[in-house]
Amino acid sequence: PRSVARDADGALTVGDLGVRELAERFDTPAYVLDEEDLRARCREFRAAFPDEDIYYAGKAFLCRAVVRIIAEEGLYLDVCSGGELAVALAADMPPERIGFHGNNKSVAELTRALDAGVGRIIVDSFDEIDRLTALARQRSVRPRVLIRVTVGVEAHTHEFIATAHEDQKFGFSLAGGAALQAAFKILDEDVLELRGLHSHIGSQIFDTSGFEVSARRVLDLQAQIRDARGVELPELDLGGGFGIAYTTQDDPSPPHDLSKRLNKIVSSECAAAQLAVPHLSIEPGRAIIGPAVFTLYEVGTVKDVDGIRTYVSVDGGMSDNIRTALYDASYSATVASRSSSAPPILARVVGKHCESGDIVVKDEFLPADVRPGDLLAVPGTGAYCRSMASNYNHVPRPPVVAVRDGQARVIVRRETEDDLLALDVG
Ligand code: LLP
Repeated sequence: PRSVARDADGALTVGDLGVRELAERFDTPAYVLDEEDLRARCREFRAAFPDEDIYYAGKAFLCRAVVRIIAEEGLYLDVCSGGELAVALAADMPPERIGFHGNNKSVAELTRALDAGVGRIIVDSFDEIDRLTALARQRSVRPRVLIRVTVGVEAHTHEFIATAHEDQKFGFSLAGGAALQAAFKILDEDVLELRGLHSHIGSQIFDTSGFEVSARRVLDLQAQIRDARGVELPELDLGGGFGIAYTTQDDPSPPHDLSKRLNKIVSSECAAAQLAVPHLSIEPGRAIIGPAVFTLYEVGTVKDVDGIRTYVSVDGGMSDNIRTALYDASYSATVASRSSSAPPILARVVGKHCESGDIVVKDEFLPADVRPGDLLAVPGTGAYCRSMASNYNHVPRPPVVAVRDGQARVIVRRETEDDLLALDVG
């Protein structure tokens, strides 16, 4: 994060607070959010996309404080469950600035979204269109909807492959004609207001050509809808998925470049198809919150395994960051509580859970004198770490501590064993 530095003793500081003080006050492990950094990222996106709507994807990490911050910074919010919607509303997010996603929204969730008056619902199946139509009719409301289109671009971390058939659960297939049928069905239902098309091709994407192919394909569908029904849809959402740097190997495009490329492809496609340029929106989650957070752990044991590598065990693990185990994700780590002039050794940062896949950082060079009591910082843990955290082994989930201008405040408190036992009512 931006406001991270080293003090005279070589210990990390964030927002002018030392990590040792943070660990004393809030204990470890803890997710430390650099609020200035989060705000700066929101502003950078706002500046790069001044005419577009930016929906922060709350699945990356959501709590009331973050909703307020992103709202203050002029962002919209994408939610994908009743729970996320509840957090958004509890934080007074204006409902018209909320978009509601999901491939299996329940009647209860859709009802809540309609009653709250969310700004848009991104429909994902014919069943959902039927459900929403019935609910809207009962309530005499006319929700604004977008169609999630499966464009056949499957994005992987560093490349994308175009697939002729799209074998996954999200959206309406473009190739198979379902997306066009969905548009006709919605246009035929006067209780739904079809605002536009939506596509999301994946996450942690560096190669922007995937977005270009996808924009071209949805705009082609837009032209088909116009040709068949004489309707030009006013909005287009190109989804999220913009990659961030987890290690020095990663080289993400700055928001400004993304904006330039997306706008260029949209305007040239629209010109070619003689379409009016639709109002664009995007849905970044990771790129907004990911880099703004690091996890602070304390080292508990250090074990040299037969000269192969050194295992450095910290007081958390796969319960607070499942991404390494689940996606083979790469992270980095640094000793945060002091500097060291010891030579580097190849280390693996592991957790305290009962399986050998409980790895936080696969490979990292740490100083050879790394020892119990050291604090370790793992950067880039803002997205999909707390939001995917679990209570595996009955480990309470860590707090989120927001730091700004020398002040720290808990925005999500640490779980306690009592919290866990409270659910155990047998
Ligand atoms: N919009 C839609 C419709 C999405 O499905 C997603 C993410 C986003 C936006 C935000 O994508 P982002 O900008 O954050 O990449 N748990 C995985 C990531 C799953 C992403 C799911 N959808 C991980 O930890 O990498």
